[in-house]
Amino acid sequence: VQLKPYNTFGIEATAKYFVEVSSIEQLKEILQNPDYQSTERLILGGGSNMLLTKDFEGLVIKIAIKGFEVVKENEDNIWIKAGAGVVWHDLVMHCVNQNYAGMENLSLIPGTVGAAPMQNIGAYGVEIKEVFEELEALEIETGEIRTFDKATCNFGYRESIFKHEAKGKYIILNVTFKLNKKPTFHVEYGAIKDTLAEMGVTEMSIKAISDAVIHIRQSKLPNPAEIGNAGSFFKNPEIPNTQFEALKAQFPTIPSYPVNETTTKVPAGWLIEQAGWKGQRFGNVGVHAKQALVLVNYGGGKGEEIKDLSQKIQASVKEKFGIQLSAEVNFI
Ligand code: EPU
Repeated sequence: VQLKPYNTFGIEATAKYFVEVSSIEQLKEILQNPDYQSTERLILGGGSNMLLTKDFEGLVIKIAIKGFEVVKENEDNIWIKAGAGVVWHDLVMHCVNQNYAGMENLSLIPGTVGAAPMQNIGAYGVEIKEVFEELEALEIETGEIRTFDKATCNFGYRESIFKHEAKGKYIILNVTFKLNKKPTFHVEYGAIKDTLAEMGVTEMSIKAISDAVIHIRQSKLPNPAEIGNAGSFFKNPEIPNTQFEALKAQFPTIPSYPVNETTTKVPAGWLIEQAGWKGQRFGNVGVHAKQALVLVNYGGGKGEEIKDLSQKIQASVKEKFGIQLSAEVNFI
């Protein structure tokens, strides 16, 4: 099966076996199927955070468990449970239209509901953990369904238990979110304020924030339907304050965000741009001209070529700034 339609990088690679499941029963059935017991598995959501570097010799299971419903409600909050296969942005749009607040800053992030908690998706000052209530996941080994609350998920910056101890052991089935009926507006991210002003917004609303975020994303990030990409390729590195002060003395314009008393986060996009990579094209792959953190496949690019480019970028940033970038994207 050709996986090109199933990964936003648009990489041409094949899977030996491929199945799409739309219910928990179907998923259990395929996991128990004796034909696939010794086969390597790859669980797929929207395919928006992975790089296929070769053909996959195992079974790809695309999670297409759809649907969402209100499961609880009180004066201040509303809880929505969504299937892992729901397209993330569809859920965000539903909440914005119903005036359920909390996800509006996360508009237009590619991918599915089930994949979102794995890396605690975030943008424009908000992370999914802020609206996360709990999730249900199938334990592959036992076939049992287990509930993970927020604390158990151990969310961090683009991190969760599902990238560590629980990696490869569970399949997320659904996620319950706790939204607010009385919104708190997150407009601390400079670009949002500027965009709202440009748009002539006088009365703040979650719809206005969502529109602004969509506008910013569309202006900076390539649409995967047109140019293959997986969003930010690297994480923004966190470095000791002492290292940051030394860098600042050498590069006075370096942007930064404080993390805690000892650590500072610096934007990888800035480091990559300063190292001269922004807008560079190498055959069918390259570095996006409007956001250096995004690697792109112009069409026909191979996963290996992107990987190669990413390693060259890492080496050059390491040499210039002494910082080791780590990938946000998963290599398959
Ligand atoms: N910058 C540059 N050159 C570039 C890109 C960025 O100098 O080519 C500078 C900008 O001028 C700015 C800073 O870097 O001072 C931050 O840039 P931006 O606001 O575009 O955000 P980012 O830090 O590059 C992160 C997330 C994005 C998220 C945005 C907005 C990560 C790895 N990426 O990017 O998330 O949309 O903030 O909140 O944390 C993703 O994870 O796939 C993703 C797109």
